[in-house]
Amino acid sequence: MIEISNLSAEKPYKYFDRFYKAAIDSKQEFIEAISIASFNEDSNEVESRYVNLKYIKKDEWIFFTNYNSPKARQFKKHDQISILFYWDKTNVQIRMKARISKSPASFSDKHFEKRSIEKNALAISSMQSQEIESHQKVEDNYKKVLNSTDKRLHRPKSWGGFSFTPYYFEFWEGRENRLNRRYIFLQRDGEWHEKYLQP
Ligand SMILES: Cc1cc2nc3c(=O)[nH]c(=O)nc-3n(C[C@H](O)[C@H](O)[C@H](O)COP(=O)(O)O)c2cc1C
Repeated sequence: MIEISNLSAEKPYKYFDRFYKAAIDSKQEFIEAISIASFNEDSNEVESRYVNLKYIKKDEWIFFTNYNSPKARQFKKHDQISILFYWDKTNVQIRMKARISKSPASFSDKHFEKRSIEKNALAISSMQSQEIESHQKVEDNYKKVLNSTDKRLHRPKSWGGFSFTPYYFEFWEGRENRLNRRYIFLQRDGEWHEKYLQP
């Protein structure tokens, strides 16, 4: 589930809210999973991966990750990303484009404190996406942090939130005979413009 507060009253957010509620009613699993594609300037490649969206605050969408991970390094050099939801229970795809930046440290602290000690131990012990000799070593590193005498784990500087604000939405509704509905919303000079696309 995504924690939503003070959702923007702009039209694409009303659409999002309607599709999100329909997906909840249809018992959609992994409803908060989004694919994020980013540009790796060093290799000139596009890379994507899923993350769990945790919050939408007005028009800010927030997830958490390792700040030294490949994705975080890519966001720093190229802050434009492409985001995808797909909810199979309702056959809805939502595409977004956005600019991304780090969340304030105080916000990441607050979220870190809400999480289980197990998740936090993993966040501290794992240097995300770096090579390691075996999975056993991953478990050893994790247990070392989990069993440390300090039970109140503190958020490491290497872990925290990222927040993005979409400037483009496409809502795709799958319908019979491929008569799919596609609406786009594009923000220009602070105004949202709505258009329809052919399937
Ligand atoms: C459904 C799903 C949700 C995930 N959620 C997160 C997440 O919230 N944060 C995260 O860092 N990785 C998450 N992952 C793992 C990422 O997909 C990815 O493997 C990891 O972040 C490393 O990505 P990078 O090497 O591109 O930085 C998730 C994976 C799946 C399949």
